[in-house]
Amino acid sequence: MIDLRSDTVTRPTEGMRRAMAQAEVGDDVYGEDPTVALLQERIADLFGHEAALFTPSGSMANVLALAALVEPGQEVLCESRAHILRAELGAHGALTGLTSRTWVDDNGQIDLAAIRHMHAPDMGPFFVRTTAISVENTHNFAGGTVLPHADLEELRAHADAVGCRIHVDGARIWNAHVATGTPLEEYGAIADTMAVCLSKGLGAPIGSLMMGTADQVEQARVRRKRMGGGMRQVGVLAAAGLYALDHHLERMAEDHVHARLLAEACGADPLLTETNIVVVDVPDAHAVVAAACEQGVLVGAVGPTRVRMLTHLDVDRPAVEQAAKVLAGVVTG
Ligand SMILES: Cc1ncc(COP(=O)(O)O)c(C=O)c1O
Repeated sequence: MIDLRSDTVTRPTEGMRRAMAQAEVGDDVYGEDPTVALLQERIADLFGHEAALFTPSGSMANVLALAALVEPGQEVLCESRAHILRAELGAHGALTGLTSRTWVDDNGQIDLAAIRHMHAPDMGPFFVRTTAISVENTHNFAGGTVLPHADLEELRAHADAVGCRIHVDGARIWNAHVATGTPLEEYGAIADTMAVCLSKGLGAPIGSLMMGTADQVEQARVRRKRMGGGMRQVGVLAAAGLYALDHHLERMAEDHVHARLLAEACGADPLLTETNIVVVDVPDAHAVVAAACEQGVLVGAVGPTRVRMLTHLDVDRPAVEQAAKVLAGVVTG
């Protein structure tokens, strides 16, 4: 099977497994795992943030980050198909008590006019106040689209002017960095808090990081424990992340080329495929998923008329070419 359902399906390479086996470990709930400490410092450093915290998932990193910015009864603004709202199963409302409003952009972009219009200042204890804006870079359900840096800078200026804060869900910020050449530190500079994942294009089996100030990260460490996310000798997992940063970052450019091949095969404009995600509108998504599966290619339905496919470390060029042939027949044929 050629599995294009997600870039989370990768299995650790031999080199990664060796790095995991050799990792120095300690009890991370006591803050004594040297490999976790190294990963946290390295990630915080890459993005120019004060501190970072290792979490089991991107969802938990997002929850911890937004809990640092938004108090119960306050609100976050985000795009209508943001992962924090569509795929984290209510965690932010249930665990943090925040509320949300959305703007709609088919390409997952920042709509500054809408954001300005929606901004709710502090009106006393009777109204919901906007305290954060969350943006997703790259935007998963919009098809791996990248947020232009100029738009992020304008958003930062707006947030500073109205006194609210910015969270970046950067589960795939690595892809944005590789696609545009924008330094990770520049992405870090516009964010008050960030979440980044090691378990997607980077190919680690698990792990994400939440970033912010030292105080925010200290509080997040307590909340993580409360949520049952205190982990022990997880240097073995952090080692996979460190290995991925050294070996799997630059190669993502290949995934982007592969994604454009798939887009073309599906009759989509390859120029609109900026990173490793292709979304295609079809009359019946479940029929396309079933027909592709019969011919050895796994893709996902992300709506009744929309299919999604992702390229990653575990699909090489011949596999992509084979998948393109199958999908050309199934989608356009
Ligand atoms: C944009 C985005 N944010 C957050 C997440 C959550 O990551 P996890 O599945 O590790 O909870 C995902 C997962 O696909 C994602 O695509």
